[in-house]
Amino acid sequence: MVLPGDKSISHRALILAGLADGWSRIHGLSAGADVQSTASCLRALGAQVEDTAVRGVGLGGVRKAEGPLDCGNSGTTMRLLAGVLAAQPFVSELTGDESLTRRPMDRVVKPLTQMGAHAEWPPLRVGGRRPLHGIEYRLPVPSAQVKSAVLLAGLFAEGTTAVIEPARTRNHTELMLTAMGVDVRSEGDRVEVDRTDKLEPIHIEVPGDLSAASFWMVAGGLVPGSTLHIPGVGVNPTRSAFLELLRETGFDIHASREHVSGGEAVADLEIHTAVDLHPFEVDGAMAAEMIDELLVLAVAATQIEGESHISGAAELHVKESDRIAAMAEGLGAMGANITPHDDGWTIKGPSNLRGARVRSRGDHRVAMALAIAGLLADGETEIEDAECVEISDPGFFDQLESLC
Ligand code: S3P
Repeated sequence: MVLPGDKSISHRALILAGLADGWSRIHGLSAGADVQSTASCLRALGAQVEDTAVRGVGLGGVRKAEGPLDCGNSGTTMRLLAGVLAAQPFVSELTGDESLTRRPMDRVVKPLTQMGAHAEWPPLRVGGRRPLHGIEYRLPVPSAQVKSAVLLAGLFAEGTTAVIEPARTRNHTELMLTAMGVDVRSEGDRVEVDRTDKLEPIHIEVPGDLSAASFWMVAGGLVPGSTLHIPGVGVNPTRSAFLELLRETGFDIHASREHVSGGEAVADLEIHTAVDLHPFEVDGAMAAEMIDELLVLAVAATQIEGESHISGAAELHVKESDRIAAMAEGLGAMGANITPHDDGWTIKGPSNLRGARVRSRGDHRVAMALAIAGLLADGETEIEDAECVEISDPGFFDQLESLC
């Protein structure tokens, strides 16, 4: 099983290398459309982005793009670049596809405005007023994208910028900034950076994407007679709550060759069909740590005897689609006993899923989660707009075929 490079790390590698002084080397970047969006925005801002190398413009050298920056479907591109661009002496407009333009950007506008930047939405326009000043910002919702936007703006702001998180979120930005020579201070729920003059270029090996692996872990655990080997998966502790939950539920997942590369934990995973599974509960802080894996977790719950509860995940309403509604609709059409709530689902299993025509709503993770449900179902499943898997894992359907 070959995974795409971690999407979150790929975005950060391109953005931070794009701001560094000189050439960085990046291996294993995600080939997904989201990361391509970040690469093309960075080119428009003056960075030289090649297959495995990026020449950064330096923190003081960001160039004004000729037109609006197209972030495609990618919230990470839009929010992280908003942090960088809010600190520039010119105004930038960030735009995207129909899904992205519907997603909430006030969550970055608010802290950036507090830092003294000009920021407005919709459409998202930032920058043109300097200098910024550091703030202490308590995130109203757990979001690594907003945390990262504020920290990136903090590199350009006078004094210290601190972010306080209501629940732990992925810390890839902090790890990568540290590797590039920035003094990032993380303690408990608080992370701080100071104004910085220079980012050292880096050499990064992007690990395999745990969120992409989550679909195969569930498939491997539930399809009878499976053994799946997934090498080189990023298992950063701020991302691996899903893995631990699956193990507690009874999934047979073995990690080997555990090592750290560029500050990021990496391991090979082996998954065997599970024999005895128990229902589970996910709530607030846990949900924040496995926000992208919750859809395939809902699929797993349909095969487990008893009632599983996923709550504290209201953020799923404002992802690439309303994921709470999308999964309730798709799994419901396939015969699952799933009840949507404001902040998650209750799922009663086991259900004999049956193939159906279902809607991805153009959301890559919905399409992949429903494809795994289709693998477990009797009969044929047809997923509308399934090509949206290109957003994060262009090889998804080839890999799925290789399993069948
Ligand atoms: C991401 C953070 C999460 C996640 C997204 C990637 C990141 O979004 O859902 O797929 O790379 O920082 P939020 O910050 O909106 O929770």
